Amino acid sequence: MTRKGIILAGGTGTRLWPLTRAVSKQLLPLYDKPMVYYPLSVLMLAGIREILLISTPHDLTLFRNLFGDGKSMGISISYAEQPKPEGLAQAYHIGAKFIGNSPSCLILGDNFFYGSELGKLLASANSREQGATIFAYQVVDPSSYGVLTFDAQNRISSIEEKPVKPKSNWANCGLYFYDGRAVEFAKALKPSARGELEITDLSRCYMKDHSLHGERFGRGSAWLDTGTAEGLLQAAQFVQTVQTRTGLLIGSPEEVAFRKGWIDAKQLHSLADAIGKNSYAESLRQISAGA
Ligand code: TTP
Repeated sequence: MTRKGIILAGGTGTRLWPLTRAVSKQLLPLYDKPMVYYPLSVLMLAGIREILLISTPHDLTLFRNLFGDGKSMGISISYAEQPKPEGLAQAYHIGAKFIGNSPSCLILGDNFFYGSELGKLLASANSREQGATIFAYQVVDPSSYGVLTFDAQNRISSIEEKPVKPKSNWANCGLYFYDGRAVEFAKALKPSARGELEITDLSRCYMKDHSLHGERFGRGSAWLDTGTAEGLLQAAQFVQTVQTRTGLLIGSPEEVAFRKGWIDAKQLHSLADAIGKNSYAESLRQISAGA
């Protein structure tokens, strides 16, 4: 069965207030594109073409205005509301009908990934039909994330949500590949002490089943925090630095669609024309011309 994708792009974004009082953080600029372009590009890089975008009732229309049904990029995007941010695993309640018993990939709308190993890691997670794959990235202070430990055989030996005393520096990234049992597992979850359906509890179901795989990003990769004003600025500067130096785009769903062969050069060119006269559209035009 083909894997389906969910982008969870709701939340309250309180760490970014007042920036996000009136609008979802996932619509804020991360340099030259809305933040949500980056996780969408990651799903597409993984080869996922059927995508559900979940956001707040207030913001959903704005995402619809941005992407429509996704057809022009050779994908299908549908939309669902999360009335209140009651946890990441709630995506599998809201998306139960959309996912059914298909394998899936959940990505958080504010997660930024970059690196040469990304494509390979995504492909291997996507090809794993049984079990789950989650990802870890080494950070100085992992206490605001899920924290993973690994055993001598490189298997995940523990997951703890926002621990006061983290057992390692490996933070669990906001990217989760689950097999067709995710909806069933999610239905049995109970809210945690803070009243949320925890994604770590969903991953733990796979750990108990001995089918939870962990991939660690190496030093050649970046997983950046975009949830604070400082992190958002740093991520934007990272994109600006690399794009300006190389002339290559980071996080362009239009480009990924073209490289995957889901749209042809003519279609990419018309997408660029619809975006207008700016450097982003110009980059797309150059790609469509084979530059
Ligand atoms: P968080 O950064 O944990 O929460 P937030 O975005 O509301 O921000 P803050 O902590 O500043 O108040 O959320 C991580 C991502 O998951 C982010 O993209 C928002 C999304 N999210 C939902 O869409 N629904 C939810 O129920 C939760 C908890 C998060």
